[in-house]
Amino acid sequence: MILLLLLLLCFISYSGSSTEPVSGIKGGTVSLSCGSEDREIVHISLISVLEILPVCVKNCSGRVFKEGSCDVNITDLRLSDAGKYILHVYYNNDQTELERQILKYHLHIHDEISVQKGEDLELDVLLINADKVERSSSSGWTELWTRGHGVSSDRLTDRDETLIIHEFTVDDTGTYRVLDSDNEVLITVTVTESILDWKGNLSDTDEDDTDDTEHRHYWMLPVGLTVVLLVLLVLLVLAAVVIYRRRHRDYLKGESFSSVRVSTGTS
Ligand SMILES: *[C@@H]1O[C@H](CO)[C@@H](O)[C@H](O)[C@H]1NC(C)=O
Ligand SMILES: *[C@@H]1O[C@H](CO)[C@@H](O)[C@H](O)[C@H]1NC(C)=O
Ligand SMILES: *[C@@H]1O[C@H](CO)[C@@H](O)[C@H](O)[C@H]1NC(C)=O
Repeated sequence: MILLLLLLLCFISYSGSSTEPVSGIKGGTVSLSCGSEDREIVHISLISVLEILPVCVKNCSGRVFKEGSCDVNITDLRLSDAGKYILHVYYNNDQTELERQILKYHLHIHDEISVQKGEDLELDVLLINADKVERSSSSGWTELWTRGHGVSSDRLTDRDETLIIHEFTVDDTGTYRVLDSDNEVLITVTVTESILDWKGNLSDTDEDDTDDTEHRHYWMLPVGLTVVLLVLLVLLVLAAVVIYRRRHRDYLKGESFSSVRVSTGTS
């Protein structure tokens, strides 16, 4: 608790310099760039609202490691990584004196969730630094949860770090966002409805490759048949026209022959 207070004090005392916004996708990688000057780095430490994260420098297997001269990569991003960060870079200057560079970042995480109608939508977004959860609607942003007041309707429950929306309906699809106390966006979640496909299997409403090809095969048969029938119909009509014309011509010929015969007969 004391450590947390100290960290918060750090944040307040550093709030003078500018903060660089960075954003990443859940499961992806983000790079906190330090400006790639070639310097003799002695130590790097990364401080988040919750903890001091060890920045691995050599033979790294963890999620937070040094990249290039002094950038810091965070891999396998989680929703809980969202928030403010302070990077301390200790390096030797030309006079081999230890100097410290302080950089600030605000990390925004994106995620996508697909939910079946009637199920509960669980959003693990009530982080320690979360102040508000909102959903986009036709009339702007609607508040679903605020720190201190909790949920805004009885269809919602907040439990530990999770906001639960009970009995999901199509009206619940859309964009959800989580804001911190400075009204900066920590997390954006796009929620879509997950439906049953024609075979009765679960699939997202978003296009799914295998699903698509299967639908294509499904439609190929009737479409193919229709094309063949149309071609046959056109051929039949053409044949009918040709036959009619020939007959008509023969008839006309026959008539002219007979008129010739008649004229020769009379002369
Ligand atoms: C570090 O992050 C950057 C930006 O996302 C990426 O291009 C680079 O490949 C990452 N490095 C490693 C070792 O993952
Ligand atoms: C790092 O890995 C290299 C080869 O992968 C190995 O030779 C070296 O000893 C390792 N260093 C440490 C500190 O583990
Ligand atoms: C549907 O589910 C069955 C059984 O789980 C599986 O064998 C089949 O491949 C699935 N089909 C699709 C289109 O996912």
